[in-house]
Amino acid sequence: MFECVKGTKDILPEESFYWQSLERKIREICSIYNYEEVRIPTFERTELFNKSTGEETEIVQKQMYTFIDKGGRSLTLKPEGTPSVVRAVLQYSLHKKSMHNKFYYIERMFRQEKPQKGRFREFTQFGIENIGSGSYFIDGEVISLGYNLLKNLGIDIYVRLNSLGCDEDRKKYIEKLKIYLNDRKNELCSDCKERIERNPLRVLDCKIDSGNLKDVPDIKEFLCGGCLEHLEKLMEILKSMNIFFELDRKLVRGLDYYTRTVFEFTSSSLGAQDAIGGGGRYDNLFKNMGGPDIPACGFAMGMERIILIMKKEEKKEPLLLYICTIGEEAERIGFLILDELRKEGIRCEKDFLKRTLKAQMREAEKMKSKYVLIIGEEEIKKGRLIFKDMGTGEQEEITFSKEEIIRRLK
Ligand code: HAM
Repeated sequence: MFECVKGTKDILPEESFYWQSLERKIREICSIYNYEEVRIPTFERTELFNKSTGEETEIVQKQMYTFIDKGGRSLTLKPEGTPSVVRAVLQYSLHKKSMHNKFYYIERMFRQEKPQKGRFREFTQFGIENIGSGSYFIDGEVISLGYNLLKNLGIDIYVRLNSLGCDEDRKKYIEKLKIYLNDRKNELCSDCKERIERNPLRVLDCKIDSGNLKDVPDIKEFLCGGCLEHLEKLMEILKSMNIFFELDRKLVRGLDYYTRTVFEFTSSSLGAQDAIGGGGRYDNLFKNMGGPDIPACGFAMGMERIILIMKKEEKKEPLLLYICTIGEEAERIGFLILDELRKEGIRCEKDFLKRTLKAQMREAEKMKSKYVLIIGEEEIKKGRLIFKDMGTGEQEEITFSKEEIIRRLK
């Protein structure tokens, strides 16, 4: 007996219904906000992620599924979507065709993390990337799309917001932060001790050490005029849009490319894995990847996490008609009626297990069928069928014709 690999999961029909409904809502809201879909490959050259996600990030250091293919190339199953979208924009010169591009994706991602509730090794992200404008209104639009999607799904969330400033601001801040952390090195967990030199910002959102860092220097005090104004104007516009947010100076995010705005959508219903989604502005990424200077902002959400907590609605799509047949000839006729009705776009089903009439009726109820058609030997002889309305329980004999069945169903 085989089982699916640790950290992967099957989505069975009872759950795929919710996935379809979530995907529909995502596509709907993206269309309202004027974002267009892109589909990106499952794997990319490993270097792409080293260069964009960042050499010092946990993702690149520990979590990537990297392999050498038969041609000796180092390839990696994508751990996130942003690098691929940036690559595609540059590869197809999309920024030359349109100065402002708005994309969304629903894609499988792969990270070798320790699996737990809401955390998988293969998971699905819904992400958006808004490319071409440095305006704080764009940060507002991006956050508004994610916020309203989650609200419409009945999820109670708030936004954690921070600014990481520009390169110069961060350099100054990191200098101060390193001094602060080195002074407290003995109190930090073993991972964070190592992070002080390699990636000191990450110490700020370490779950183990967060309690020890109450008086950590506030990055807001290191922001230059432009970055501070960007943050303040964004906060103002979020308030005007009635988006519930909280400024969190410890929010740094786990990817290297962010500048200025970073944010996370958080829900208390998720427990330890409380981030439903996160994102931010990445104004330097295009340049760092060899492209022109193009500002951008985006986010991604874990769809497994959304499914875990979204308000579940009516489950099964009901059938319009279930056909019960008794005897071989009736089964043949029932099967052909089924085929005719399906060609007319009618959702219908019949029994294929030669069950008793009683069992077939039970099945029709289980499938929440609105109507049932009963075909037995007697009925065939009379050239009539029994048509039953499962809602009222009323049944009557009708003439044996496709048109008559369709007339009643419609
Ligand atoms: P991220 O924070 O690494 O950002 O991932 C975004 C979301 O993906 C997380 O908040 C979480 O819901 C989900 N996620 C991450 N890892 C897992 C996992 N192992 N299992 C289940 N869900 C997971 C990014 O990926 C950036 N590319 C977001 C972005 C887009 N920034 C700018 N544009």
